[in-house]
Amino acid sequence: MTEQRTTAAGGMETSFGFRNVDNGEKQPLVDAVFHRVAERYDLMNDLMSGGLHRVWKNAMVAALNPPKRPGWAALDVAGGTGDVAFRIVEASDSNAAVTVLDINGSMLGVGRERARKRGLEGRIDFVEANAEELPFPDESFDAYTIAFGIRNVPRIDRALEEANRVLKVGGRFMCLEFSEVEMPFLDKAYETWSFKAIPPIGKAVTGEAEPYAYLVESIRKFPDQKNFADMIRRAGFERVTWRNYSGGIAALHSGWKL
Ligand SMILES: C[S@@+](CC[C@H](N)C(=O)[O-])C[C@H]1O[C@@H](n2cnc3c(N)ncnc32)[C@H](O)[C@@H]1O
Repeated sequence: MTEQRTTAAGGMETSFGFRNVDNGEKQPLVDAVFHRVAERYDLMNDLMSGGLHRVWKNAMVAALNPPKRPGWAALDVAGGTGDVAFRIVEASDSNAAVTVLDINGSMLGVGRERARKRGLEGRIDFVEANAEELPFPDESFDAYTIAFGIRNVPRIDRALEEANRVLKVGGRFMCLEFSEVEMPFLDKAYETWSFKAIPPIGKAVTGEAEPYAYLVESIRKFPDQKNFADMIRRAGFERVTWRNYSGGIAALHSGWKL
């Protein structure tokens, strides 16, 4: 599980895939991964998940249920190429104002181009920034979403505190992330698929296996459903719940700022 450890020298360590690294070292390594995969990110998402990521994202936005009236604002953190933001705008009948925030300019560049092709530029802002230090005043948004992003953030606790800070009272936090598979046979098949199939597929499609090995390893290091729910509560959220998708391959956590 992802956890912060104090090193002998007094620094803080976290995980980068299966390696332990100093907190300060992780972000540049993560950034390098996403700079390398940005152009093929959407294709690889479909190949790696057999298209399931679309089903999970649709379910996330259905659960969020954005209102079909103006004046409601959502922040999609680690929003990458815009998948969740597009769904929120569409589900709100183009009423929602969505800000996509990501630390990686390459991912945002692909997202901006996709938004332009869909004619959604007017409803979506793209902001390059760190989930650990959101460049917004307190109580700015009605909803905070993050999909397959939080396990990449070095200081998850800090990102969760920031989520709480920028949400309005009554605002909703929703996090979609790979989680712990809770079905006995599925877990073995999923393990084999993840470690034996995904890196070679990545190599065949993009010429590189290493970024995909990181993505798989980082999933294994992420806290299970219950431990992640505890982290969300510690950041100040209430009524924290989760639901599993596809036997726990992914889980959607929800919390409220009350
Ligand atoms: C697996 S992608 C998910 C993209 C998108 N949410 C989706 O579901 O398709 C993870 C994203 O997290 C971003 N990311 C990593 N560390 C971050 C940080 N500290 N702050 C903001 N974004 C970050 C990466 O740049 C990348 O775009």
